Amino acid sequence: MKKLSVKLGILFFFIIFGLVTFMFFFLHNGITQSRVEEELTSLQSRGNSHRDILEKHFDQDTIAHVVLMESEAETDVVITNQDGQILNSSAPAEAFVKYLKGPLPSIPSEGRVIEGHWEDEPYISTVSPVEKDGQLVGLVYMFQDTASIHSMMKRLNEHFAISGWISVIFTIVIIIFLSKGITKPLLKMKAATREISKGNYSVSLPDTYDDEMGELAESIETLARDLQYLTKQRNEFLASISHELRTPLTYIKGYADILRKQDLPKEETEKYLTIIVDEANRLTQLVKELFELAKLDQNQFAIVKEKVDLHPFFEKIKQRLLPIFQESKIEFTVSCPPNLYVMADPLRLEQILFNLLDNAKKYSPNNGAVVLKALKHKNEVHIVVQDHGKGIPEKDLPLIFNRFYRVDKARTRSLGGSGLGLAIVKELVHAHGADITVSSTENAGTCFEIIFKGEVR
Ligand SMILES: Nc1ncnc2c1ncn2[C@@H]1O[C@H](COP(=O)(O)OP(=O)(O)OP(=O)(O)O)[C@@H](O)[C@H]1O
Ligand SMILES: [Mg+2]
Repeated sequence: MKKLSVKLGILFFFIIFGLVTFMFFFLHNGITQSRVEEELTSLQSRGNSHRDILEKHFDQDTIAHVVLMESEAETDVVITNQDGQILNSSAPAEAFVKYLKGPLPSIPSEGRVIEGHWEDEPYISTVSPVEKDGQLVGLVYMFQDTASIHSMMKRLNEHFAISGWISVIFTIVIIIFLSKGITKPLLKMKAATREISKGNYSVSLPDTYDDEMGELAESIETLARDLQYLTKQRNEFLASISHELRTPLTYIKGYADILRKQDLPKEETEKYLTIIVDEANRLTQLVKELFELAKLDQNQFAIVKEKVDLHPFFEKIKQRLLPIFQESKIEFTVSCPPNLYVMADPLRLEQILFNLLDNAKKYSPNNGAVVLKALKHKNEVHIVVQDHGKGIPEKDLPLIFNRFYRVDKARTRSLGGSGLGLAIVKELVHAHGADITVSSTENAGTCFEIIFKGEVR
């Protein structure tokens, strides 16, 4: 596997190297060209100034004077007549002969470059015409040895090579730091995810980045926390399930053993058998509820909503539950204004209310009272289940919707509760897009309120 930092580094290097090479090439060309042009211009203006003198006096003496001046300088001059015959020159003329173009009628008065190829030729050269009364009388050829330009270019190339190497080294160093800087947090995150997959959820990543890297680090930490929470939940849940299953099974096994070993009177046999059946029923109920919760967790629960008219709906519930409440001598009242609707799955809504009413009945003393009512509040429909039972201590209130949570484990067990009822209620209410709240005062009563948002007409 190639490391990301290496890949990034190579990519950066080639991009920057290409860019810098192109810029160097461009700069080098520009400098060379302008330097040569400068040389040619100064050569030409030097020729022009000789020409100006010669235009005033085009005679042997002046020509000799001009030639003398040039023989002292780095440049050379060759003066010809209008037909190209050499009149005088500052150095032996053989080297210059091939550049002399003979009669050149088209030369402009400010002169012209006749050789600019400094790379291949030994000289660069210009020519200036000498005119008298509008007639061409002679030509001033100026020459400059290209050796000086070559040595200047060599120096320039050396400078370019040095700065080129310096930039390459700098680029490499910067790229190494940069790519390491970019990949370092990624490597840390990789290590963190490895730890998470091993089950070590307490990873912490430094939050020094306020960019996408920082967001990614934060997401990983959140993921770790969520996973930790879920794992803890799952373990607790499994522990509770096995505990809940073990208790009735112990009863069943214990009483079955007694029945098998001893010759018991009929009533006692009856009693033990009833206990066995009750515990078996409790197990069946528990498994059913667990299965229901599992389906809710996986969103396999189809909620088929329809418009439910609460008044007749409540009446039906009352008819079904009234005998059970009467048996416990608890007053059960139902109240609902006519034409109040909610969008709900009637079967599930019934399940929710049965669960809440079952609790209300279970945790109310004899001669208590339980109320089921519905009311409209602003744009919401509230369904309230209220009892005047023993209530729930304040510290337990936030926990009662948790799976297997019971306030008083010993006592509620005798009432047959497993602590799953409210967990199912909460899931079902949320599956409807509704909310559930609870308020309670110890020894005064409890009030559950389901809130359906949005009015249905
Ligand atoms: N109306 C109420 N009055 C007093 N305590 C209540 C009331 N409703 C619920 N509780 C408390 O909340 C706990 C959780 O209720 P939940 O309905 O989830 O479980 P359960 O009734 O014990 O068992 P299940 O409903 O699964 O048979 C109960 O054990 C009880 O302690
Ligand atoms: Mg219950």
